Amino acid sequence: MATNLEKLLGGQDVGLALLQALAENSFDSVLITDASKEGKIIYANKAFKKLTGYEPDAVIGKTPRILQGAGTDAKVIDRLSVALKAGGRFEGKAINYKKDGTPFIMFWRVVPIKAGKTIKAWVAIQREGASI
Ligand SMILES: Cc1cc2nc3c(=O)[nH]c(=O)nc-3n(C[C@H](O)[C@H](O)[C@H](O)COP(=O)(O)O)c2cc1C
Repeated sequence: MATNLEKLLGGQDVGLALLQALAENSFDSVLITDASKEGKIIYANKAFKKLTGYEPDAVIGKTPRILQGAGTDAKVIDRLSVALKAGGRFEGKAINYKKDGTPFIMFWRVVPIKAGKTIKAWVAIQREGASI
């Protein structure tokens, strides 16, 4: 799989087009943040809008914390913070809130995107989870 992908990605333009096609057409929400301390959103796909009600353009420059609220489990967020600080991955579920305030269970993964040892961005794959 990796080998076939690597062959296909030989040209960087093709690689970018492939990633865009995957993210734009994914049924799951895809959210990418920069590597800054605040983790500012640099990309959200259409499925993010379907899941949360937020227009992708409206969340660029904000942080995913806009999805959190009174019911969000602080322990899950602490676990996420620790994983991010360690440059590792995270997977979990917590109550999040749509733009109109409707609570839902967010089930998401976060993985670092590295160039060598330097983290350049974080990618999250998100969907509505069945139960906590
Ligand atoms: C790529 C990425 C996606 C994230 N997505 C969510 C999310 O869907 N829901 C959520 O509650 N927090 C999400 N977070 C976590 C918050 O952005 C933030 O990292 C977390 O609240 C810890 O920081 P804090 O302790 O300063 O709040 C995401 C973080 C990253 C890096």
